[in-house]
Amino acid sequence: MRAVVQDRYGSDPDAVLAVAEVARPAIGADDVLVRVAAAGVDMGTWHCMTGMPYAMRLTGFGLRSPSALNPGRGLAGTVEAVGSSVSSLSPGDEVYGSGDGSFAEYASVPADQLARKPWNLTFVQSAAVPISGATALQALRKAGTQPGQRVLVIGASGGVGSFAVQIAKAMGAVVTGVCSTPKVDFVEALGADRVVDYLVEDVDDGSQEYDVIIDIGGSRRLPDLRRALDPRGTLVIVGGETGGRWLGGFDRSLRAVLISPFVGQTLGLLASTEEAASLDDLRGMIESGQVTPAIDRTFPMADVAGAVRHVEEGRPRGKVVITI
Ligand SMILES: NC(=O)c1ccc[n+]([C@@H]2O[C@H](COP(=O)([O-])OP(=O)(O)OC[C@H]3O[C@@H](n4cnc5c(N)ncnc54)[C@H](OP(=O)(O)O)[C@@H]3O)[C@@H](O)[C@H]2O)c1
Repeated sequence: MRAVVQDRYGSDPDAVLAVAEVARPAIGADDVLVRVAAAGVDMGTWHCMTGMPYAMRLTGFGLRSPSALNPGRGLAGTVEAVGSSVSSLSPGDEVYGSGDGSFAEYASVPADQLARKPWNLTFVQSAAVPISGATALQALRKAGTQPGQRVLVIGASGGVGSFAVQIAKAMGAVVTGVCSTPKVDFVEALGADRVVDYLVEDVDDGSQEYDVIIDIGGSRRLPDLRRALDPRGTLVIVGGETGGRWLGGFDRSLRAVLISPFVGQTLGLLASTEEAASLDDLRGMIESGQVTPAIDRTFPMADVAGAVRHVEEGRPRGKVVITI
């Protein structure tokens, strides 16, 4: 089969990522072989490609070179074969989910990381959901988001944020999205009640307080975020890309967790899980029309480098997807 391969870390996608002929992956008893139709690209792809921040290399990604030879994870496609212990899916089922090596014609995926794809989405739209949509859902749930609460989504125009705005609205929250000037209209169209352009307005000057802050972009200082949070409010740190080469901002998340027991606010971080349960819940929101993946653009697998570069440059409004 044809697949993207990567045998070393590097920051130039043209130099590091190539398309080659490789063997189809084998499946174990609990796995499903998926014929991939489309695969999502996100900042996680960039982290896998560069091996940065360095701390991630100590957590199983490979110290000197990547342990996974293909940086893709989110996917949508059709079940080709199932392992002997899998009874929930059958060949021919249309699925979405995440697993190793999704930038390929076939991927072997644990069955408990796959779910039926929403009937009203294309494969391209479906491939955008598993990583970013599940992260947004889990972050808002971790925050205990309730109807009527004031929710601030920092990084509302990106992959995770475009889902977070819609899911928070579906949960009945009053949503403020934060993004840069060129994307204000996009975040408005996602359904945000208010949009703050961080290039012209401070979200953390204390003039507005929020019950929930989902911090996905910008890596603001903790004291600044706390100033924008209700005294009993909840902060969930999802990510941010200005946090340094070694820890990538994880030190900020850790500080939030450490001081949380000593303050009235609840401060935490999200480590998202790849699980069918989140995909099932998202399917419900998608099929009822509450959530629609926002696709910025697609790239063919042969131009995977262009897709990663587009994401790294911060240009997407929503999600980037590779077609296989
Ligand atoms: N914790 C987890 O389990 C988990 C899971 C998935 C992703 N992540 C992390 O979450 C982060 C976002 O991922 P993504 O795929 O959504 O990335 P993305 O599509 O590149 O989106 C990044 C967002 O950050 C915004 N942003 C950049 N600078 C900002 C600033 N100074 N102030 C406010 N917003 C700013 C961007 O807005 P503009 O484009 O308008 O500037 C954009 O909306 C990454 O760090 C990723 O590694 C974490």
